Order: sequence, then structure tokens, then C-alpha cells
Amino acid sequence: MQKNIVEYEALIEAFQLSPYPTVKLNNYFQIYTDLFQHLIDSQCTFIEVGVLSGGSLFMWRKWLGNKARIIGIDLNPDALKWREFGFEVYIGDQGDPLFWQTILPEIGTFDVILDDGGHQSFQQVTTLNAAIEFSKNDCLVVIEDTCTSFMKDFAKHGATSFLEYAKSATDVITAKDCNFFPGQFPDFKNTQSINLFKNVHSIQFFSNIIAFHLRKNTPNEVDLIWNKESKDMPTDFRYVGKSETLVNWPDPMTNKIIKIMGGK
Ligand SMILES: C[S@@+](CC[C@H](N)C(=O)[O-])C[C@H]1O[C@@H](n2cnc3c(N)ncnc32)[C@H](O)[C@@H]1O
Repeated sequence: MQKNIVEYEALIEAFQLSPYPTVKLNNYFQIYTDLFQHLIDSQCTFIEVGVLSGGSLFMWRKWLGNKARIIGIDLNPDALKWREFGFEVYIGDQGDPLFWQTILPEIGTFDVILDDGGHQSFQQVTTLNAAIEFSKNDCLVVIEDTCTSFMKDFAKHGATSFLEYAKSATDVITAKDCNFFPGQFPDFKNTQSINLFKNVHSIQFFSNIIAFHLRKNTPNEVDLIWNKESKDMPTDFRYVGKSETLVNWPDPMTNKIIKIMGGK
């Protein structure tokens, strides 16, 4: 049962009533509702990369309310015309780290960067990394149309696709907190990535959208804690389970059946 039906329907209405064209996959509206509904009627700053016909700027304003600061970013200088309608618009290349270095400090704190721009993997990576680097508060960086990582006309991004980057990032957000069992973990050498992702609280994968939840200024030390002293500790059977099974590895490109098994 959908919980946020009112907000969802309001978003669909804002999409349909936008005075200018906008194009979205139809499964996005539920995802947007789940991710952004907490910003409705707030003084939020919502940045969308990719303006095209301007319709989505109007959709966000109608749905989020007039207190929201809606900012569009596009490489096409024609997008400047939307300034007349009260939107902030910046012209530049999202694939250029220098562009972000210039505009993000100027914009200041933001609540969302939604990337619906060029959709090339290197642009998505650059946008995400800049957003993580320059964000000052808890916020969301949401990359949409991640299916482009599979698409022929976005060149063969292959091993360096945005999807692969995001999947590797999930290893980093796990590894960055793995120091509570000395001697158990491998040597995590990539301090640059571990530092970059230290404020990434979670990464949410949806169909064609990946959301990075940033929590700034939260303590990063993860430790094991007990609620009380443990006397007469029972034996932990963690390595005793030695069953095995065959699984179809969840790789959409191949049909690999792999044996997985327990034991040390
Ligand atoms: C899919 S459209 C945006 C659609 C719009 N968000 C909507 O919902 O209707 C993509 C836009 O990204 C812009 N774009 C393409 N490459 C870009 C880049 N490198 N930097 C910034 N914007 C770019 C294009 O000019 C185009 O307007």
C-alpha cells in the first residue's frame, strides 16, 4: 500500500500541468516522492542539471512550493530565458570540475542535486564527486537515467560506467567503517576515495536512478558495543554452517550459476 499517495498525485499533477514540456520515465514519480517529499513547502534549494524545454523547473516549483529555490543548470545558453520566470539558471558543462568549483560555492547550501543532464558516465561521476565535495549540509545527490551505462549511443562506458562507479562506491562506504576488528580486514589503501565518501551515509539503487544520501558532520567512528557485560558466553556457531547452494549470480549480461558454500 502506497503511503504517500497525496504527494505522489500532486507531483503527477505538477508534471501534467507544467506549462512547458518535460520528459521523465513514468516510474520516477514514486521515487521522487519517496526521496523529496520532506522538502515540500520548505525553503529548500533544489538543483536540476538539464533544463531542455524548462518544463521540469515549473513542475518542481509547483510541487515543492514557492519557498523553494529552484536552480537549473545546462550547457545550452538558451536555458537562460527561464530566469525571467524566477528560476536561477547557470550555464556550464557538468563534466568540467572547474564549473562546479565555481558555481557550487556561489549557490551555497543545497538540498538536492538531480542530474538529468548529459547522461555520459564521466559527467555523472564528475557531478556526483563535486556535489559530495562542496555540499555543506545533509542532502541528496540523485543521478537519473543510469540505464545510459548500458546504452550503445552513450559509447562503451564498460568498466568505467557510472553504474560500475556507483557499485564500487558501495564497497567504499562499507570499507570506510571497517576498523573495529583489528587484523580481520584487508588493507584498504584507497584513502582518497575513503575520504571522499566519508559523508556518504547510504546509496540507494532504484530502477534507473541512484540516490546518494549525504550526512555531513556525523561522527565516522564505528565500533562494536554491548548493551551489558557478557558472562557465560555461548559458542558462536558462525563457521559451523557448511551448507552449499547454487545461485544465479545477479549479472544481467551473463547467466552464471555459481556454487556458494559455508565454512571458514
Ligand atoms: C534530458 S534533457 C533535460 C530534461 C529536463 N530535465 C526535463 O525533465 O524535462 C538534458 C539536458 O541536459 C543538457 N546537457 C547536455 N549535456 C550537458 C552538460 N555537459 N552540462 C550541462 N547540461 C548538459 C542538454 O542541453 C539538455 O537540455
